[in-house]
Amino acid sequence: MKNILLLLPIVFSTVLHAQQEKGLKDYYKNYFDIGVAVSRHALQTDEAGLILQQFGSMTAENAMKMGPIHPEENRYNFVGGDSIAAFAKRNNLKLRGHTLCWHNQTPRWFFTNATGDTVTKEVLLQRLKDHITTVVTRYKDVIYAWDVVNEVIADSPNEFYRNSTFYRIAGEDFIAKAFEYAHAADPKAILFYNDYNEINAVKRGKIIKMVNDLRAKGVPIHGIGLQGHWAVNEPSREQLDKTLEDFSKLGLPMQITELDISVYPKEHNAREKKASDYDTIFSAEKQEKQMEVYKLCFELFRKYKKSITAVTFWNISDRSSWLDNFPVRERKDYPLLFDKYLKPKEAFDAVVKF
Ligand code: G3I
Repeated sequence: MKNILLLLPIVFSTVLHAQQEKGLKDYYKNYFDIGVAVSRHALQTDEAGLILQQFGSMTAENAMKMGPIHPEENRYNFVGGDSIAAFAKRNNLKLRGHTLCWHNQTPRWFFTNATGDTVTKEVLLQRLKDHITTVVTRYKDVIYAWDVVNEVIADSPNEFYRNSTFYRIAGEDFIAKAFEYAHAADPKAILFYNDYNEINAVKRGKIIKMVNDLRAKGVPIHGIGLQGHWAVNEPSREQLDKTLEDFSKLGLPMQITELDISVYPKEHNAREKKASDYDTIFSAEKQEKQMEVYKLCFELFRKYKKSITAVTFWNISDRSSWLDNFPVRERKDYPLLFDKYLKPKEAFDAVVKF
């Protein structure tokens, strides 16, 4: 008996150690995949260890977007995409593809001909087809799902589609075509429409209408991506619950594709830095508010686990995030679950204790 008592601290510390080793993906294994957006560079740092411990899936943050991967008409640059794909294969991680058709980070050559004039709809669609076919085919052995079309719905309540160069040249047809090209290149890939500000009821209504219309026409669209770029002041519980409920009624798999919770109140447009923006300390108050929002988000994600198949964080740790430069350039943000030393924050505990 005495010997058993002597062994107890060792047993407890081993159990505790094993507990600490558990990653987000383990806590959520009965719910959905937990993913993370990465750069090729991050995979060569100590963040790689954190990825393997915590996440079961990855998305290339920028490397597979049209501009970086297809800088000139007859030149692709697969360096970043290939190294992310190789890391995923080597470590048995799932990989999401992001993104095949987006108005942003599009190379200038895409919309103009040799004399600098805007291309016709036919030329644009042919270029889109070539691009999608090449990229999807290259990664079809490793990418299981693609964000095919990204952010084509307008934010303004008075407009339906975003007035992008794609839209001005090709009308809405490029949306269905993008899905068709992707499906032809990899019939097994799960094809997503992905957008932000989906907690806004008007925008959400437009997204749902577009997806229903595409499906009615037989367009191969298989999933809905909610980016989830939120903040300490949004979404409210009611807003997020209604958002997830509305999208789940589509009957498609749903993924939270780009989750982060800014410690500053949400702003939708870039603006100049002002005096108050220099207060960038991650105070106890910011920490507490962020923890509360993460807690409510994951409570609701778990509630909708039948529809949600993955939750992907947009960046790995507070070391760097696109929010460090948006909406204000060079204003440090702390939107993720791990700090710059890669240690779990209070919000991590709120997410895994349930
Ligand atoms: O490629 C250049 C590089 O050559 C140069 O050295 C460097 C110096 O600034 O800039 C590099 O490009 C930057 C690129 O990120 C790679 O770091 C761009 O300026 C910068 O605008 C770009 O930002 C990305 C942004 O999309 C583009 O709009 C962010 O990293 C990326 O996190 C963000 O991700 C988007 C999703 O794809 C779609 N949903 C919204 C989300 C946040 O905006």
